Amino acid sequence: MKKKIRIAIDGPAAAGKSTVAKIIAENLSFIYIDTGAMYRSLTYKALQKQVDLQDEDALADLLYNTTIELKPGSEGQIVLVDGQNVTSLIRESNVTNSVSQVSKYRLVREEMVRRQKVLAKDGGVVMDGRDIGTQVIPDAELKIFLLASVEERAERRHSENLAKGYPSELEQLKLEIEQRDKLDSEREVSPLRKAEDAVTIDTTSLSIMDVVDKIMTLALERKE
Ligand code: CDP
Ligand code: CDP
Repeated sequence: MKKKIRIAIDGPAAAGKSTVAKIIAENLSFIYIDTGAMYRSLTYKALQKQVDLQDEDALADLLYNTTIELKPGSEGQIVLVDGQNVTSLIRESNVTNSVSQVSKYRLVREEMVRRQKVLAKDGGVVMDGRDIGTQVIPDAELKIFLLASVEERAERRHSENLAKGYPSELEQLKLEIEQRDKLDSEREVSPLRKAEDAVTIDTTSLSIMDVVDKIMTLALERKE
């Protein structure tokens, strides 16, 4: 049987990566892999264990001794850290505001990329993150780079928070997104960067389904 394709979706925070990746994976009966959840899981555990977030060796040791599982659940993907369900805990602001500090280290990234390559090896995956097209699956059959203005991205997160009944402050969200984008783009090891052969989609004025349709068209072309 022909091997199923691999789709890499990269881009900055709140560009819509996970939302469209999930729909595309479902449409194609592929597996969705949220690599951001893996970095968030390590950050969550480091905060719990009070590991020094400036200490690369300590963070890497912690990761070597941590199992991170991404499993399908009835309401979407479930994230388990050492067997504990941390799906909502890893989305809390203490994790969000520390994750770029943890993800910048070479030893942490090497181990994460090693695990992610294993997850992608059989094909039939939609994987989203920051370095999927450049490091994790550099030979992916389809690479997408999603963009949107920072104002639009902050608005999206703000609406998401309000819909969930969480406290939310638009200007603060915008500052946090800008700060995370800066750290992710300027780090030395595999920074957030568009792969040369990735297709860029600016989603600023597009609906979720507009973006899905564009990617599905490209995916069906590459499937042939
Ligand atoms: O969903 P959101 O855009 O807020 O972020 P995420 O995809 O959950 O990723 C959280 C953080 O993990 C990012 O800000 C990066 O610091 C890091 N990350 C990374 O370095 N490389 C990846 N492949 C995925 C995430
Ligand atoms: O994964 P990433 O951080 O890139 O973004 P996300 O969590 O998938 O999307 C952020 C929010 O933007 C979600 O609430 C989406 O419903 C919304 N949105 C979108 O993803 N794409 C659009 N074209 C419009 C809105």
